[in-house]
Amino acid sequence: MTDSIIIKSPGRINLIGEHLDYNGGYVFPGAINHNIILKFTKTQNNQCTIISEGFGSFSFNIQKPIKISSNHWENYILGVIHGIHKIRPDKLKGFNCEITSSLPEGAGIASSAALECGVAEGLNQLFNLNFSDHDLIDISVKAEHNFVKNNCGIMDQFSIIKGKAQKLILLNCATLKFEFFQFEFDDYSIILLNSNVKHNLSESEYNLRRKECEQALEIIQKHHSGYNYLVDVPENIIDELKDDLTDKLYKRAVFVSQENARVLKSVTHLKKREIVKFGELMYESHDGLSKKYEVSSSELDFLVELTKDLPYVVGSRMMGGGFGGSTINIVEKKFINEFLSLAYEKYKSKFNHNLVSLEVEISDGVGSANVI
Ligand code: GLA
Repeated sequence: MTDSIIIKSPGRINLIGEHLDYNGGYVFPGAINHNIILKFTKTQNNQCTIISEGFGSFSFNIQKPIKISSNHWENYILGVIHGIHKIRPDKLKGFNCEITSSLPEGAGIASSAALECGVAEGLNQLFNLNFSDHDLIDISVKAEHNFVKNNCGIMDQFSIIKGKAQKLILLNCATLKFEFFQFEFDDYSIILLNSNVKHNLSESEYNLRRKECEQALEIIQKHHSGYNYLVDVPENIIDELKDDLTDKLYKRAVFVSQENARVLKSVTHLKKREIVKFGELMYESHDGLSKKYEVSSSELDFLVELTKDLPYVVGSRMMGGGFGGSTINIVEKKFINEFLSLAYEKYKSKFNHNLVSLEVEISDGVGSANVI
């Protein structure tokens, strides 16, 4: 039996299909080659100490009830432990965990989900808990809902648990049916531009968007009872009910319906290797996220806008929950350096902030690591 284990838990990108997971739609994510590393060691008693390079440390007794902490970051870990206790009572014993990370926090690449999934998988392996992928996803999502109080969808945790090298995941969030999609962009790379700005409204506005979508669906269901998810409602029905919805709810619903259609069109284009047409859908997605769903920021809008004059960038849009974080860009490989220096310079002179770039590869999901 192992007494110590090292886990790597990656971030994720999402090619297209934003804010659709909690609306029963399609998303198109993949795990990436930037990770949180967690080193777990069993202790001989019930005491647990968690040490994070970036956030500090805390301790608790594994036999005592796990409660929400006033230190926000601790809840990602405590929430997972609470969830495990619920379905495998008495299986967890004392352990220590050291955490280091190369995943920037607040960059829209799911560092929170990476932490949750890393803790869930680490404890799964350390204490032989025999969890299925589905259990691990569920425990991690519930930790975020119940302890972090962020009503996220399933996309981040799903892609971190299920991710595979070179494969994007086309996931139907209503049925959880998914297929792997070979990532072959040949001469193009995925470049993330991290605006390095996270607006503090992000969590409350995220939960609010989810609520607005529920409200819109409820109103629509009063007229058409057959729709289970907002993504199922065609645009002409939303238009028909425009007067019953507030202006805000109307815009949210139209975005959701159009964004889901964009994911499906993207698949068709990518299968035919029509990368430029796919890029156009990324710009449309950004426009909807910015104007109809209202989750972008002036920094993200600026970063997307500046790519429109660059022939070597085929598509760009904000990625993840929004209100700061990163844009995802599909850039011709031989122009990456040119692109980065131009973006750094323009961003710095406009906002006086430094841009951080990340070139990503689609990589394996959470699992054992050999090195720290
Ligand atoms: C965050 C959430 C996800 C998803 C995205 C937006 O990353 O955790 O569930 O809703 O935002 O697509």
